Amino acid sequence: MTADELRKKYLNFFEGKEHAVIPSFSLIPENDPTALFINSGMQPLVPYLMGEKHPKGRRLVSIQKCIRTVDIDEVGDATHHTFFEMLGNWSLGDPFESDGIGRAGYFKREAIKWSWEFLIDPKWLGLDRNRMAVSVFAGDKDAPFDEEAYDTWKDIFKDNELPETRIAKLPKENNWWGPAGETGPCGSDTEMFYWVGDPKEVPKSFNDDNDLWVEIWNNVFMQYTKKADGTFEKLAQQNVDTGMGLERVLAALNGIDDSYKTELFWPIIEKIEDLSGKKYGSSEIITKAMRVVADHIKAAVFMVADGVEPSNTERGYILRRLIRRAVRQGHMLGIKENFTIEIAKIVQSIYAEAYSEVTDNKVIEETSKEEKRFRNTLEKGLKVIEKMFPTGFKILRKDEIPPRTTDVDTEKAFYVFQTHGFPLEMIQEELQCRELTVNEGEFDKLFKKHQELSRTASAGMFKGGLADTKEKTTQLHTAAHLMLAGLRKVLGGHVHQRGSNINGERIRFDFSHPEKMTEDQIKAVEDHVNEAIQAKVDVESKEMDLSEAKEQGAEGAFDSKYGDKVKVYDIGDYSKEICGGPHVKNTGDIKGTFKITKEKSSSAGVRRVKAQIKY
Ligand code: ALA
Repeated sequence: MTADELRKKYLNFFEGKEHAVIPSFSLIPENDPTALFINSGMQPLVPYLMGEKHPKGRRLVSIQKCIRTVDIDEVGDATHHTFFEMLGNWSLGDPFESDGIGRAGYFKREAIKWSWEFLIDPKWLGLDRNRMAVSVFAGDKDAPFDEEAYDTWKDIFKDNELPETRIAKLPKENNWWGPAGETGPCGSDTEMFYWVGDPKEVPKSFNDDNDLWVEIWNNVFMQYTKKADGTFEKLAQQNVDTGMGLERVLAALNGIDDSYKTELFWPIIEKIEDLSGKKYGSSEIITKAMRVVADHIKAAVFMVADGVEPSNTERGYILRRLIRRAVRQGHMLGIKENFTIEIAKIVQSIYAEAYSEVTDNKVIEETSKEEKRFRNTLEKGLKVIEKMFPTGFKILRKDEIPPRTTDVDTEKAFYVFQTHGFPLEMIQEELQCRELTVNEGEFDKLFKKHQELSRTASAGMFKGGLADTKEKTTQLHTAAHLMLAGLRKVLGGHVHQRGSNINGERIRFDFSHPEKMTEDQIKAVEDHVNEAIQAKVDVESKEMDLSEAKEQGAEGAFDSKYGDKVKVYDIGDYSKEICGGPHVKNTGDIKGTFKITKEKSSSAGVRRVKAQIKY
């Protein structure tokens, strides 16, 4: 099936269920200061989900262009993309008010049944029912277990002779959805997954940790609105908001486990192969670099088409960063010529029919101008770095990046990249992917100083939300110390930090531990952190000799080359760790509840958690 057939089928299916088709909105939100880009089909529909009347009625269907950059470091795997198309259908409170033509209501049961019919019926997509699993909301203090969704699935699975064990009940972290801002319409959801592994070995139950279960569709039941104080209030209007990822479904339909091999990416990858003389799939690093180039240039094309220009602030900065990152990866692949123009042309040909705006000349002009600007300095910058660190010039795989260590030259390296126009986040990547050892605390300080100076703090607004990124990052940094101490308390002294990445939204943290954490262990670690937050203890720092820090039992990577003097951060009885800062003054400044949202394997003997402060 082609992408175009899939788009048409989707719209036809829901037109057949009395939905009105609405066109994709621009990627740039109108009158919405809380987000830089449209990241879902529902985003431009928020006023209608909150009760305003939509001129086209209560049932809508669309295919919306989306940009998601919150997890930009996940781009490079088989399923995450910066730009994607979301197929979505909506009930704007349809079940609760008669529309005068006497049709039945439209809420959970209808939405779920239609999703299943569209996915499985051979008249529509005809996906293999045996490779399906779903999840529903398990319930908590804010909202009950979603019995209606569960029972609907139970009936469907029974009719289709599928085991009920493939219906997972999961908490808010998995089965709750709301828009990017901190307030607004939200609700429990049910997610549909397709097994992209061996069809003969479909597991009996769904497992969130297994990347072979790919989420293809999300039905959100928007029954609540989240208020500024963090509480939930029932909405007057009960809505359905669904979102299906076109690229992922297209891959599934064509029996491909890698969406880069679909028609929406493959011509781009072939062009990159052509330009670089390298083969997709020949090594992990090459595959990833090609995916990043394809993903980023495609997103850049769509951004420019909707009027974004590269700059140092907000949307323009994200565009700049995407293009520069693509150029950097292209350079790594050995492409020395200006090449983004070639890639952009392929993107234009793939999408000319569905989104004619991409054929605008400015797309080519802006992209190649930005590449030229950056290329002039890229090679100079890399040469200087190579000279400065002649032995440390080896590109490392992510899992080879050394644990947190220190290096007196962090500052020097930072300035070289800065002078040569590397976007700030890219500098961090450049340093980390070499055998350069980076003092994360020092680096963070430099990074933050410059972030302020160049007024690019808004780069943290990838997902949306106007919250103060810097302040949040600092809070999360302190929370990360408390978490490490909690992990050591709960799991044992063998636990040490193996890597960490913090932005205004979340902590991503790798640590040594041989096995999966149990739910009780996760809870105990969360409790440790939350207890410390509630205890409102002062965070104190002291400079001392490394040997003294060791004697005091401060946590830190002692085998690496710390300077003679180190700074030790003390958080009451809750944590003692060597670090460069910055941290909050008192744990009470971390306003909210600490929550581990994900726990999975990172590499052999190393676990990875993601954690957030929930407000
Ligand atoms: N708005 C929901 C999502 O983006 C459907 O997943």
